[in-house]
This record gives sequence, structure tokens and C-alpha cells, in this order.
Amino acid sequence: MKLEICTWPEEVLAKKAKPITEVTPEIKELIESMIETMYEGDGVGLAAPQVGESIRLICVDQTGPKMKEDLRVLINPQIVECDGEVDSEEGCLSCPEFSAKVKRKQRVKVKALNEKGEEVCIENDGFLAIILQHEIDHLDGVTIADRAGRLKKAMYRKRAIKWMR
Ligand code: NI
Repeated sequence: MKLEICTWPEEVLAKKAKPITEVTPEIKELIESMIETMYEGDGVGLAAPQVGESIRLICVDQTGPKMKEDLRVLINPQIVECDGEVDSEEGCLSCPEFSAKVKRKQRVKVKALNEKGEEVCIENDGFLAIILQHEIDHLDGVTIADRAGRLKKAMYRKRAIKWMR
């Protein structure tokens, strides 16, 4: 089922999401819906808070909705190692009509559980590394609007608030 995407500055996007202690049938269903919503939205990643669920769950696919060749579901993901720095121009499904240049680590090592509850470890220094940092940011209540400069953020807030009812 395709889910509605929360947009900045909705409160759920600013909350620190809670760890998942058990992969329940409800969470499995949420995972399926998040994958569908990510692909339908033409996204390469989606975090649970973006669909209103403040829990530590993300899905990513760096190959995008046309190829769908690198889907990963990560539960309680944690960056355990990182180094280097890169500038990254990013958009976000929760920040329509907005993009920002964000400083990211060049390489990350991320540990998480997959949808079967198995431990996984991803080490990457390319596009996937950027996506993982962007999505894990969402779990900590941080969006690219928050990472943009003060003026840019204030201007976007003015526009974004007009769209909200
Ligand atoms: Ni995002």
C-alpha cells in the first residue's frame, strides 16, 4: 500500500525515532508499504518517520525505481565507522521543491538488522554511503532543510508553511 509522505516541517520529522525491538507482522507490512512508497515516489531511500512512524527503520535502493537492483531494508542502522568528507547536493521526498548542499562523510560502515532480523554490515564510499547518511539523519530528526544554511532554511520554511493546511 502506498503511504502518504510527511513533509517538513511536520513534527514527526524532527523527532528522534525509537529502536525496534521485534520485527512484528505490522512492521513487516510497514516495510512492504515503505518500499512501494519509495519506488512510487522515485526515491532512492525512505525512512519510517517520513511516513509518520517514529521508529528506526529505513529502506534504500541506490539503483532507483527503474532498476530496483539493490534494495536493502535496515532496522536500527548505526554508523560504526566513517571518514573523509564530501559535499553532496541532495533532495528529499519530505522536502518538495527543495535541494541543499550538505556535508557528508565520504565513507561509512553501517551495522543494522535486515527484515529477517539478521545482522548486516554495509561498507561504502559512493552514492550508497550518502543515501545511508541521509536516511539515518531522518531517524535522528534531521532533514536536509535542517542541514541547509539558516537563511535558506528560513526561506523554505515560509514556502513550506503555505502548503500546509
Ligand atoms: Ni529524505
